[in-house]
Order: sequence, then C-alpha cells, then structure tokens
Amino acid sequence: MRRMTPPSTPLFPPYPHEDQRRHQIELSDAIQRVLDSGNYILGEEVATFECEFATFLGAKQAIGVANGTDAIEMMLRALEIGLGSKVVVPSFAPSAVAAGVTRCGAEPLFADIEADTFTLCPESLDAVLRSPAGQGVKAALAVHLYGHPADWKNLRQVADEHGIVLLEDCAQAHGAVWHGRMAGTLGRAAAFSFYPTKNLAALGDAGAVATNDEELAERMRLIRQYGWKSRHISEVAGVNSRLDELQAAVLRMKLPTLMGGVHQRRRLAAEYDARLMNSNLVTPPLVRGGCEHAYHQYVVRCERRDELMEHLQRSGIPAAVHYPVPLHRQTAFGVSDQALPESERAAAEVISLPLHPYLSEDAVDAVCRAIESQEHARS
Ligand SMILES: Cc1ncc(COP(=O)(O)O)c(C=O)c1O
Repeated sequence: MRRMTPPSTPLFPPYPHEDQRRHQIELSDAIQRVLDSGNYILGEEVATFECEFATFLGAKQAIGVANGTDAIEMMLRALEIGLGSKVVVPSFAPSAVAAGVTRCGAEPLFADIEADTFTLCPESLDAVLRSPAGQGVKAALAVHLYGHPADWKNLRQVADEHGIVLLEDCAQAHGAVWHGRMAGTLGRAAAFSFYPTKNLAALGDAGAVATNDEELAERMRLIRQYGWKSRHISEVAGVNSRLDELQAAVLRMKLPTLMGGVHQRRRLAAEYDARLMNSNLVTPPLVRGGCEHAYHQYVVRCERRDELMEHLQRSGIPAAVHYPVPLHRQTAFGVSDQALPESERAAAEVISLPLHPYLSEDAVDAVCRAIESQEHARS
C-alpha cells in the first residue's frame, strides 16, 4: 500500500526528531526507570543493553562506550596499538575514523575505496601494506560506509597475508549483513556509534564495541574506566569512556525497532532505485551480491554534483554531501599528494538523498521529480 504523508506532517520530517516523537511514551518510561533506579553510570541498563545488543548481532560480547570515535580508540588500545603503530583506513570516510586512530597515538595511513560500494579496496590495502610507508602497520579498519558491507573475503585474505588485524567500523551499518553474517561479527572487533542520526540512535552520544574475543572484551571493560580492575585500582592505562544508564535505557527501548526501520529504509531505497535507474544525471548505489545494505544513507553519484545540489536545495530537498574532502587531503591528518583517485572522485560526486524510516513515498517522489526536472533543464 502506498504510504502517504499525513496532512499535519512536513514532507521531510527530520529523522531523529520524528523517531523520538513516535516513541515518546516508551522513551519517557525508559528515562523514568533510570531516574527511579538512582543509578546513572555502568549499572543494570548498560549491562542489559550490552547483552541484548550482543545477542542481536550474534556476537559474544558488546562493550558500551561513550561514542563511536572512542569505540575505535578502545579496540586499538585493547590490541596494544598505540604510539609508533600504523593503522590503515579508507581515505573516503568521516574524519572520526582517522580521529579514533590518532586518539590512541597511532598513525592513520590511507587506502583507496572501491568505486561501486565506496568501501575499502582490498587491492589498495595490499598496495599500502607493500609500500615503504606500510612497514609497521598493525591493523586495518574497514568502514561499512553508508551501510554497505565492505568486501570482507578479499580484505580478510590481504590482512591474513600481511599478518595484520582486521577491524570493522559499523557506525553506519547497524542491521547490514554480509553473506548471512551481521556487520559487527566479521572482524576481530567492531566499533558502533549510536549518535542521534544513526540507524540505532541514542538521545546524545553513545557507542559500543562488539567482539567474539573474550580477553579483548575484558581489556576494553578495564580501559573504558581508568583501567580499573577493582574500584580505584588501575591495572592498565585507561580512560573515561563509559556509556551512561540513560543512553543505555534509550537504546534498549529502540533496539527492537531497529530492523523494522532498516526494512523501511530498504523499501524506500528500492523505490529510489526504480525511479533513478535510467537517469542520465545520477547513478544509484550498487548492492553487491550476498550483501544486505542497511541504507544509513542513500548515496548517488553525479558528475555535476554541485549544480544538482544547488538545484535540490532551491527545491527544498534536504540533500547532503557525505563527505566533501578525502582524509588524505585534510590538514589534521597531514595533507599528502598520495594518489587515491576513487576517494577524490567520490568526494566530488556523491549526494546523499533524504532517507529514513519515517519518510513517505511522496517525499521520495518529490526528490525524484526534482532530479528529473534538472535532467530536463540540461537536455
Ligand atoms: C563511519 C563512522 N565512524 C565513526 C563515527 C564516530 O562516531 P561518533 O560520532 O559517535 O563518535 C561515525 C559517526 O559520525 C561514523 O559515521
């Protein structure tokens, strides 16, 4: 049945706000539960959310932390990757990915992405690892960008050949599946963000690491709280990166709704695909065989991106660019003249079209009509 926009709802309701509005009563109950408990940090809500999230993924352990950038830092610290170590990340990614690496003292090295899925390219990873700069690399962090799983089989092969650890960044991939396995269960450990715009979203900052490695999980539990083995006694060097009870209670309320939201994202993405497949202005995203996309973003390519962006903005369509500058070109990470052509091209061509579970088919139709009108104006 066609999903229409109710008359009182704007055509493009903002995602996190609409999610809170629909779950107002359950969210209030969850928050009240924490208020009644008198426990605010690392209590029952966090412990229960960790179990529930690990079960959802099919992982042995989930460790709640303060945000997704810290989740990257925790994985690396627990693996004793720090000062003097190098970690390869894709250049076309949010800057948080490289920031997580630098936070633990390691140096990020950049590899290119695959043109069709925007995820870490196994051949490029191999080339970086074989280069003189690649000596001293301890790990690679594959980002399932926009919710599309990275090419795990080939990345795994390259990582094994070079004897490095392969980690996942699942901040955009809650609910994505690679050959029957949930994103978050593929690597030695996986970082999640629950930033309010994510597929699974807190009411503030929150994150987690998932892993099947019990020892690594135990180290992360120490590191997230000053390295404490028991209260006030630090066993290892640690930080403060705790998930709080309020955010854990909110995440527990939302977790059972996650896959419903992902399925709705997939339905709307299929709607976009059908409308845009013959476009001569934009190229819809590809989903590789064996992969189930989580559609955190629905991202098309357009050679005349800036022109189309301007047109969409003038038409009242809330499109966005994720991400305008590849990481190897950003001053914080030491601007380099490394040739990473697919990262450069993606940064110049991508547009994220509006997509979230509360968007109507009318909204998708309005976006596609705006794109078609630009096509006609140009032809
Ligand atoms: C791919 C990716 N990695 C890491 C992060 C960092 O997460 P957070 O903002 O919770 O620190 C984000 C969030 O923006 C992200 O999209």
